[in-house]
Amino acid sequence: MEFPAEIRNRINELTENEDLKALKASAAKLSENYRNESANGKRGAATRTDVVAYAAVRMPATFAAVSKALELSLKCFGGEINSILDVGAGTGAGAVAAARLTDCDNVICIEREKNMLELGKSFCECTGVSAVWERRDLTDGITETADLVICSYCLNELPEKQREAALSELANSAKKLLVIVEPGTPFAFERMKQIRQSLLNMGLKIAAPCPSENACPLPEGDWCHFTARAQRTKLHKLLKNADVPYEDEKFCFIAAARGECLPCKVRILRKPIIKSGNITLSLCEADGLKTELVTKKSPLFKAARKSECGGEFPPG
Ligand SMILES: C[S@@+](CC[C@H](N)C(=O)[O-])C[C@H]1O[C@@H](n2cnc3c(N)ncnc32)[C@H](O)[C@@H]1O
Repeated sequence: MEFPAEIRNRINELTENEDLKALKASAAKLSENYRNESANGKRGAATRTDVVAYAAVRMPATFAAVSKALELSLKCFGGEINSILDVGAGTGAGAVAAARLTDCDNVICIEREKNMLELGKSFCECTGVSAVWERRDLTDGITETADLVICSYCLNELPEKQREAALSELANSAKKLLVIVEPGTPFAFERMKQIRQSLLNMGLKIAAPCPSENACPLPEGDWCHFTARAQRTKLHKLLKNADVPYEDEKFCFIAAARGECLPCKVRILRKPIIKSGNITLSLCEADGLKTELVTKKSPLFKAARKSECGGEFPPG
């Protein structure tokens, strides 16, 4: 899903009143924190400048990732979503993406940082998403429930010892579906595997991305991740000293359902390798990993040519 033009315009307006040097410094600090993988409970973007920098340089990528994770998750869920809860909502990437994908206007966002919350609230307003924002620390407990609970790029900010309790609060809040999105790094994937096991232990079903609830078949050192593309604005390129007009955000995710769901049978795990006359697909199936060579003669060739990493094969 495209990054909403209303938010992009609002970000451009906001940055006109900011000192560019300070914004660049905040953007660099955010990138460094992101590379270091875990804030371990420390406050991330908190000042007004940090939060505007977050919206300008991180939000387009987190929005792209959470949108794609939600699209893949909702496809494997099949039920109706009449309420949404976004925990650690930041500037509202998950809330806006989920509201647009489900056409649901019953949205609650929980966020600890005042400046994040204020900006998130204004982005919801300008995109027509009617959301109630609550300023709270999620480790104090989550009392709200919703059909769909989202937690994107937030669990990695909690100290290790608070994560399991937070996960169980998130799972209890989800009446139908819980979607967790984290960076697409080997480190975050290891954590995602633990999250997956904990959710199974809590009695939830894995809707996506896994085709089964068996142990993950990936060998040690390999990691399951997907990519979402975010277009870069002039401002984004300026703040990140980047030339390329887009950014490919790597992410991993898990969607867990309370009750029956429709997991895909075969998930494409890597970017298909297209050569003249054949396409090689890396697949994850219920009984393990498989590499499939689809030749021009195959009735699946057309579908393989259109296929992409993260998709189902053959497409459902
Ligand atoms: C990296 S941002 C992600 C924001 C948004 N979910 C997204 O995908 O763009 C993490 C957010 O989680 C919030 N957060 C971190 N720890 C929190 C906690 N204990 N309680 C509530 N919010 C928290 C941070 O303030 C921040 O806004």
